[in-house]
Amino acid sequence: MELTEHARRNRAQWNLWAAEYLEPGQRAWAQDDPTWGIWNVPESELRVLDDVAGKDVLEAGCGTAYWSAWLGRRGGKVVGLDNSPKQLQTARMLQQEHGLKFPLHLGSAEAMPFDDESFDIVFSEYGASIWCDPYLWIPEAARVLRPGGQLAFLANSALVMLCSSEAPEPTGEKLLRPYFGMHRFEWPDDDSVEFHLPHGEWIRLFRANGLQVEALVEVQAPAGANQHRYPSLPSPEWARHWPSEEIWKARKAR
Ligand SMILES: C[S@@+](CC[C@H](N)C(=O)[O-])C[C@H]1O[C@@H](n2cnc3c(N)ncnc32)[C@H](O)[C@@H]1O
Repeated sequence: MELTEHARRNRAQWNLWAAEYLEPGQRAWAQDDPTWGIWNVPESELRVLDDVAGKDVLEAGCGTAYWSAWLGRRGGKVVGLDNSPKQLQTARMLQQEHGLKFPLHLGSAEAMPFDDESFDIVFSEYGASIWCDPYLWIPEAARVLRPGGQLAFLANSALVMLCSSEAPEPTGEKLLRPYFGMHRFEWPDDDSVEFHLPHGEWIRLFRANGLQVEALVEVQAPAGANQHRYPSLPSPEWARHWPSEEIWKARKAR
């Protein structure tokens, strides 16, 4: 399947970034309890995912695949899909190191190399959720989910996207761009392309693809949260006041 123009650019960019994700990937694989996003909020608190034991689970944009590893250890029949050969190379190395094997596929979540209705859960943490065009990957997620299956994904909040400048400085407290029409984002200092939608448009898109919205979890940084390593994302103080990340939960109609 041919990659879209932005998927080609994101593949090249992620092959360059892969080396920076090796050490965080090693740390995450060594961790036992699943945590979400830049503030490492435990899944045991947020309770996003269905019980994964015995379920077919797809991580769309798995990167170094630490989330897949966490769910594999909990009995999930996990599969990782990623668009970057270099990121998958790290994931394979970590599988070897930890003696935990699961299928890893090279490909774009905008055209998933899987049969219809082959997964019980499709999820993403900063993977397909921000690097794929929602108008392509949400229909694909809906297609590969079984009836009653769960879609869950974490992305930067809409508010963060509105308050982030193009400079590599932490998110501010001013609205810097329009909310209406929000979709494709490009940055001056690299060649990547990101996608973010207004909330109403997410809901419309889910419904158009037979997905019922169950929750929008707005993630608050925990008290005493540590500073993360991303210069253009919000400070812990910012993220105590406003949601910096959001997790959509939806379910395919039975
Ligand atoms: C930030 S990582 C996500 C993995 C991990 N949760 C993390 O936060 O490090 C983003 C991943 O999305 C992948 N990605 C970008 N575009 C993609 C696409 N079209 N299909 C599948 N994966 C894609 C990148 O190759 C990269 O490995």
